[in-house]
Order: sequence, then C-alpha cells, then structure tokens
Amino acid sequence: MKPLTVRAPAKLNLVLDCLGKRPDGFHELRTVFERIDLSDRITLTARNDNKVRVKCANPQVPKGPQNLVVKAARLLQLERGVTRGVTIAIDKKIPVAAGLAGGSSNAAAVLLGLNRLWNLKLSRAQLAAYAAGLGSDVAFFIYDTPYALGEGRGEKIRPLPVRAKLWHVLVTPRFKMLTKGVFGRLAGLRQGANLRLTKKKDNVNILLPYLRKNMPSGIGRALANDLEPAILSLRPDFVRLKEKLSAAGALGVCFSGSGPSVFALARSKAHAGQIKARFDRRYSQVYVVSTL
Ligand code: C5P
Repeated sequence: MKPLTVRAPAKLNLVLDCLGKRPDGFHELRTVFERIDLSDRITLTARNDNKVRVKCANPQVPKGPQNLVVKAARLLQLERGVTRGVTIAIDKKIPVAAGLAGGSSNAAAVLLGLNRLWNLKLSRAQLAAYAAGLGSDVAFFIYDTPYALGEGRGEKIRPLPVRAKLWHVLVTPRFKMLTKGVFGRLAGLRQGANLRLTKKKDNVNILLPYLRKNMPSGIGRALANDLEPAILSLRPDFVRLKEKLSAAGALGVCFSGSGPSVFALARSKAHAGQIKARFDRRYSQVYVVSTL
C-alpha cells in the first residue's frame, strides 16, 4: 500500500459569539469558520503491526496518545475493527496552540485519510460524528468547505455557500494560549465584572450579508470575538498588536479562536504584503494567508 499524503489547513474565526456556559461545562457558540491556506501535510503509511506512531520534527507536537491524530486513528481502529496500524508523519507549518485549530485539522485529515487508506467507506456524516467526539473544531475540516457556520460547541457544521476569497495578514505571537484556560477566564471575568455572556448583538447575522456579497470593508467591520476579554486578561499587551494592525490600514482586526493569533483583513494580496512588511521585523510568525 502506497503512503497517502493529505493537506491539513488552518482556520480563522471571522466571528465567535459565545452564548453562555452549558451544563456539560462547554460554551455554546455561534461561529463563522474560514479555511485558510496555511497548512500542514500529513503522510499516512500503513504498518504491518497494529501500532499508531507519530513522527514530527516540531518538539511542541506531542508524539504520544494525547495527540489528537493518535486518538483519531485509535478511534477508527476500535469502532471499525481495524487490526492494521499506521505511521502518521506531520509536516508542521501551523503554529501550535495558537487559535488556528492545527491539531484539530490534523485529526480531521487523519480521519479522512484513513477512511481511504483502510478502505472504510465511511460517509461524511459518520466521519463528522467521529470528529465531533474528538474535539470542538475537528468537524469543520471534514466538510471540505471554505466557510461554515459552527454551532453547539462549534461541532455542528453548516457549510456556507460563499465564494469570497479574502486576504489576511496573520500574526501569531510566540505565547501558547490553551483553549481550556481562555474559556476558564471567561467565567471569572463574567462574575468579576458582571459581564453578560448573552447579548443582543448577533455578530454572525451582521457578518453574513457582507460575506455573501463579498464586501471586504463590511466584513472587516463585522469581525468579532467574544473571547477577546479573556485573551487580553492573560496578555493585556496584545491589544497593542491589534491597534498597530489597524493603524497599518487593515479593514478589520480580530483574534482567531482562543488566540493568541491575530488576523488583519486586507483589501488584496498586495495590500496584505504591505502590511506584513511592517510586522516582519518585530514578529517572527507573520503570514499572508487567504481563503482556501
Ligand atoms: O473541544 P476541545 O477539546 O477543543 O475544547 C478544549 C476545551 O475548551 C474544553 O475542555 C473546554 O474547557 C473549552 N471549550 C468550551 N466551549 C467550547 C469549546 C471548548 O468551554 N465550545
């Protein structure tokens, strides 16, 4: 069996509305995902034994059972009675624990890839159900869509029929933000400042008409992330990064997911390149990315 290589792209959240905490401890979300072209590559090689092994040159990527790709492969072995193993080689380009869902995307790529390598013939709905069990952001990547609405924990996916191709400058400060920690801060902030999590503004419905009509200026104004106060409570200085990206001419600036990645919406590829040039010297992880 020939090794199989699959692409595992990152995502941004154009809007992330947090509607409240649920009895199961997760937060009820409404989010608009955008798939972007910053991608990892995953190569799956069949093994003669039943082991699941991870190879990755990046020391930040766990190689053991806590890696979502191992959980994904083990889940398929268990659920579908597979006795074969796999070596999963990850060529890591997406920053780790950065709000870009790199680990979740890797897991989705493994589900999709093993479905082919092991000839499991699982439908998209079955793969999405497995994905949802692995993590809140995994299911989005199963649907092969540039944009989707995410509800529930983020795992209930509705692909959006939107054709806009957006250009962004993505800046990822070298500071790991753990999703759990950021969501944890949200509750504390709400109690401390009596902030309401439920609010009247529906940021998804403000964004969608601009996205459908491909109006970058409107999209820029509509970017929103309810996790921002929690992210800034961990690193108040990141507000300066947002301000500087705005001052550099971005149409809108927003954190992605639970941060610390910040993205700026640009008017075009060239405009994104101009903004990037201003940040290259201060920050090591600056990318021009577009919708994939
Ligand atoms: O689902 P995932 O493993 O990505 O979530 C990581 C952590 O982030 C959860 O354990 C939970 O604390 C928090 N989370 C949340 N509400 C969500 C998604 C994640 O509280 N909708």
